[in-house]
Amino acid sequence: MTRVILGVSGASGAMLARACAQDLAHRQILFDLVISHAARRTFETECTPCALEEMQKLAARIHEVEDIGAGIASGSHAISGMIVAPCSMRTLAAIAHGFDDNLLTRAASVQLKERRPLVLLAREAPLTLAHLRNMTLVTEMGAIVMPPVPAFYLNPPSLEAAVNQIAARAIDLLRLGPGRAEAWVP
Ligand SMILES: Cc1cc2nc3c(=O)[nH]c(=O)nc-3n(C[C@H](O)[C@H](O)[C@H](O)COP(=O)(O)O)c2cc1C
Repeated sequence: MTRVILGVSGASGAMLARACAQDLAHRQILFDLVISHAARRTFETECTPCALEEMQKLAARIHEVEDIGAGIASGSHAISGMIVAPCSMRTLAAIAHGFDDNLLTRAASVQLKERRPLVLLAREAPLTLAHLRNMTLVTEMGAIVMPPVPAFYLNPPSLEAAVNQIAARAIDLLRLGPGRAEAWVP
Protein backbone atom coordinates (compact mmCIF):
# COMPACT_ATOMS: atom_id res chain seq x y z
CA MET A 1 0.00 0.00 0.00
CA THR A 2 1.17 3.54 -0.80
CA ARG A 3 2.71 5.31 2.17
CA VAL A 4 4.11 8.83 2.38
CA ILE A 5 5.55 11.18 4.98
CA LEU A 6 3.99 14.44 6.13
CA GLY A 7 6.56 16.69 7.78
CA VAL A 8 5.27 19.75 9.63
CA SER A 9 7.70 22.56 10.45
CA GLY A 10 7.29 25.85 12.22
CA ALA A 11 6.43 28.26 9.44
CA SER A 12 3.15 30.07 9.60
CA GLY A 13 0.34 28.05 8.02
CA ALA A 14 -0.34 25.20 10.42
CA MET A 15 -3.72 24.79 8.73
CA LEU A 16 -1.84 23.65 5.60
CA ALA A 17 -0.57 20.64 7.54
CA ARG A 18 -4.03 19.75 8.73
CA ALA A 19 -5.45 20.14 5.21
CA CYS A 20 -2.74 17.85 3.79
CA ALA A 21 -3.45 15.24 6.50
CA GLN A 22 -7.19 15.38 5.79
CA ASP A 23 -6.69 15.12 2.02
CA LEU A 24 -4.27 12.19 2.36
CA ALA A 25 -6.75 10.40 4.64
CA HIS A 26 -9.56 11.13 2.18
CA ARG A 27 -7.50 9.54 -0.62
CA GLN A 28 -6.77 6.59 1.70
CA ILE A 29 -3.02 7.26 1.49
CA LEU A 30 -1.29 6.16 4.69
CA PHE A 31 1.15 8.69 6.09
CA ASP A 32 3.85 8.92 8.73
CA LEU A 33 3.79 12.22 10.61
CA VAL A 34 6.77 14.21 11.95
CA ILE A 35 6.14 17.53 13.68
CA SER A 36 8.93 19.95 14.67
CA HIS A 37 8.89 21.69 18.04
CA ALA A 38 8.32 25.06 16.39
CA ALA A 39 5.35 23.61 14.49
CA ARG A 40 3.70 22.64 17.78
CA ARG A 41 3.96 26.30 18.73
CA THR A 42 2.48 27.59 15.46
CA PHE A 43 -0.40 25.13 15.89
CA GLU A 44 -1.06 26.64 19.33
CA THR A 45 -0.93 30.15 17.89
CA GLU A 46 -2.90 29.61 14.69
CA CYS A 47 -5.37 26.74 15.24
CA THR A 48 -8.05 25.62 17.64
CA PRO A 49 -6.82 23.70 20.73
CA CYS A 50 -7.85 20.29 19.33
CA ALA A 51 -6.48 20.79 15.77
CA LEU A 52 -3.10 19.17 16.42
CA GLU A 53 -4.67 16.15 18.09
CA GLU A 54 -7.21 15.78 15.27
CA MET A 55 -4.42 15.81 12.67
CA GLN A 56 -2.40 13.28 14.64
CA LYS A 57 -5.40 10.90 14.72
CA LEU A 58 -5.30 10.72 10.90
CA ALA A 59 -1.67 9.52 10.78
CA ALA A 60 -0.73 5.86 10.39
CA ARG A 61 2.27 6.57 12.60
CA ILE A 62 3.60 9.56 14.53
CA HIS A 63 7.34 9.99 15.12
CA GLU A 64 9.17 12.21 17.57
CA VAL A 65 11.27 14.74 15.65
CA GLU A 66 14.38 13.68 17.62
CA ASP A 67 13.91 10.00 16.76
CA ILE A 68 16.61 9.80 14.11
CA GLY A 69 16.49 5.99 14.41
CA ALA A 70 12.90 5.72 13.11
CA GLY A 71 12.28 3.59 10.01
CA ILE A 72 11.66 6.64 7.81
CA ALA A 73 15.24 7.79 8.52
CA SER A 74 16.39 5.00 6.20
CA GLY A 75 16.09 4.70 2.43
CA SER A 76 15.34 1.01 2.89
CA HIS A 77 11.92 1.91 4.31
CA ALA A 78 9.14 1.67 1.68
CA ILE A 79 7.97 5.26 1.23
CA SER A 80 6.64 6.88 -1.95
CA GLY A 81 7.45 10.52 -1.19
CA MET A 82 7.17 13.35 1.31
CA ILE A 83 5.45 16.69 1.75
CA VAL A 84 6.70 19.33 4.18
CA ALA A 85 3.71 21.56 4.96
CA PRO A 86 4.39 24.25 5.90
CA CYS A 87 8.15 24.33 5.33
CA SER A 88 10.04 26.91 7.41
CA MET A 89 13.11 28.66 6.09
CA ARG A 90 15.14 26.89 8.79
CA THR A 91 13.98 23.46 7.62
CA LEU A 92 14.46 24.52 3.98
CA ALA A 93 18.05 25.57 4.79
CA ALA A 94 18.74 22.31 6.62
CA ILE A 95 17.44 20.27 3.66
CA ALA A 96 19.31 22.43 1.13
CA HIS A 97 22.59 21.88 2.98
CA GLY A 98 22.04 18.22 3.89
CA PHE A 99 22.19 18.78 7.67
CA ASP A 100 19.91 15.81 8.48
CA ASP A 101 19.77 17.32 11.97
CA ASN A 102 16.41 15.87 13.00
CA LEU A 103 14.02 13.19 11.74
CA LEU A 104 12.10 15.64 9.53
CA THR A 105 15.18 16.91 7.67
CA ARG A 106 16.73 13.43 7.62
CA ALA A 107 13.57 11.95 6.05
CA ALA A 108 13.56 14.76 3.48
CA SER A 109 17.19 14.01 2.61
CA VAL A 110 16.31 10.34 2.23
CA GLN A 111 13.66 11.22 -0.36
CA LEU A 112 16.28 13.18 -2.31
CA LYS A 113 18.92 10.47 -2.18
CA GLU A 114 16.40 7.82 -3.19
CA ARG A 115 15.11 10.11 -6.01
CA ARG A 116 11.58 10.14 -4.61
CA PRO A 117 9.19 13.12 -4.76
CA LEU A 118 9.75 15.78 -2.11
CA VAL A 119 7.32 18.72 -2.07
CA LEU A 120 8.17 21.73 0.12
CA LEU A 121 5.43 24.24 0.94
CA ALA A 122 8.05 26.88 1.74
CA ARG A 123 6.46 29.86 3.49
CA GLU A 124 8.08 33.19 4.15
CA ALA A 125 7.52 36.70 2.82
CA PRO A 126 9.41 38.60 1.69
CA LEU A 127 12.35 36.37 0.82
CA THR A 128 16.04 36.96 1.52
CA LEU A 129 18.78 35.95 -0.89
CA ALA A 130 19.55 33.03 1.47
CA HIS A 131 15.95 31.77 1.14
CA LEU A 132 16.06 32.08 -2.65
CA ARG A 133 19.46 30.35 -2.86
CA ASN A 134 18.24 27.51 -0.65
CA MET A 135 15.16 27.10 -2.87
CA THR A 136 17.48 26.89 -5.88
CA LEU A 137 19.66 24.29 -4.15
CA VAL A 138 16.76 21.99 -3.24
CA THR A 139 15.30 22.38 -6.73
CA GLU A 140 18.66 21.36 -8.22
CA MET A 141 18.57 18.28 -5.98
CA GLY A 142 15.12 17.29 -7.25
CA ALA A 143 12.71 18.73 -4.68
CA ILE A 144 9.65 20.72 -5.73
CA VAL A 145 9.31 24.09 -4.00
CA MET A 146 5.63 24.95 -3.89
CA PRO A 147 5.02 28.18 -1.98
CA PRO A 148 1.51 27.99 -0.47
CA VAL A 149 0.11 30.71 -2.71
CA PRO A 150 -3.67 30.69 -3.21
CA ALA A 151 -5.01 29.88 -6.68
CA PHE A 152 -6.64 33.31 -6.98
CA TYR A 153 -7.92 32.40 -10.45
CA LEU A 154 -10.30 29.87 -8.84
CA ASN A 155 -11.90 32.59 -6.71
CA PRO A 156 -11.76 30.54 -3.48
CA PRO A 157 -14.78 31.44 -1.32
CA SER A 158 -12.82 31.21 1.95
CA LEU A 159 -9.32 30.84 3.38
CA GLU A 160 -10.14 27.20 4.12
CA ALA A 161 -11.07 26.57 0.48
CA ALA A 162 -7.81 28.19 -0.68
CA VAL A 163 -5.80 26.08 1.78
CA ASN A 164 -7.60 22.87 0.77
CA GLN A 165 -6.79 23.56 -2.88
CA ILE A 166 -3.11 24.13 -2.05
CA ALA A 167 -3.00 20.86 -0.08
CA ALA A 168 -4.65 18.96 -2.95
CA ARG A 169 -2.12 20.42 -5.44
CA ALA A 170 0.78 19.44 -3.18
CA ILE A 171 -0.48 15.86 -2.91
CA ASP A 172 -1.08 15.69 -6.67
CA LEU A 173 2.60 16.60 -7.10
CA LEU A 174 3.55 13.32 -5.43
CA ARG A 175 2.08 11.73 -8.58
CA LEU A 176 0.59 8.78 -6.74
CA GLY A 177 -2.62 8.69 -8.77
CA PRO A 178 -4.93 10.89 -10.80
CA GLY A 179 -4.82 14.56 -9.83
CA ARG A 180 -7.66 15.70 -7.61
CA ALA A 181 -6.96 19.40 -7.14
CA GLU A 182 -9.50 21.74 -8.65
CA ALA A 183 -8.21 22.88 -12.04
CA TRP A 184 -8.63 26.03 -14.07
CA VAL A 185 -11.41 25.56 -16.61
CA PRO A 186 -11.34 28.33 -19.23
C1 LIG B 1 3.79 32.22 14.99
C2 LIG B 1 5.07 31.94 14.24
C3 LIG B 1 5.09 32.09 12.87
C4 LIG B 1 6.26 31.83 12.14
N1 LIG B 1 6.23 31.93 10.80
C5 LIG B 1 7.31 31.59 10.07
C6 LIG B 1 7.24 31.57 8.65
O1 LIG B 1 6.22 31.88 8.03
N2 LIG B 1 8.34 31.15 7.97
C7 LIG B 1 9.49 30.76 8.59
O2 LIG B 1 10.43 30.37 7.92
N3 LIG B 1 9.58 30.78 9.95
C8 LIG B 1 8.53 31.17 10.70
N4 LIG B 1 8.59 31.16 12.07
C9 LIG B 1 9.89 30.89 12.71
C10 LIG B 1 10.19 29.39 12.82
O3 LIG B 1 9.23 28.76 13.64
C11 LIG B 1 11.60 29.21 13.42
O4 LIG B 1 12.58 29.63 12.48
C12 LIG B 1 11.90 27.79 13.84
O5 LIG B 1 13.23 27.73 14.31
C13 LIG B 1 11.71 26.79 12.73
O6 LIG B 1 12.07 25.52 13.21
P1 LIG B 1 11.73 24.19 12.39
O7 LIG B 1 12.24 24.42 11.00
O8 LIG B 1 12.49 23.11 13.09
O9 LIG B 1 10.27 23.97 12.46
C14 LIG B 1 7.45 31.43 12.81
C15 LIG B 1 7.41 31.29 14.20
C16 LIG B 1 6.25 31.53 14.92
C17 LIG B 1 6.25 31.35 16.41
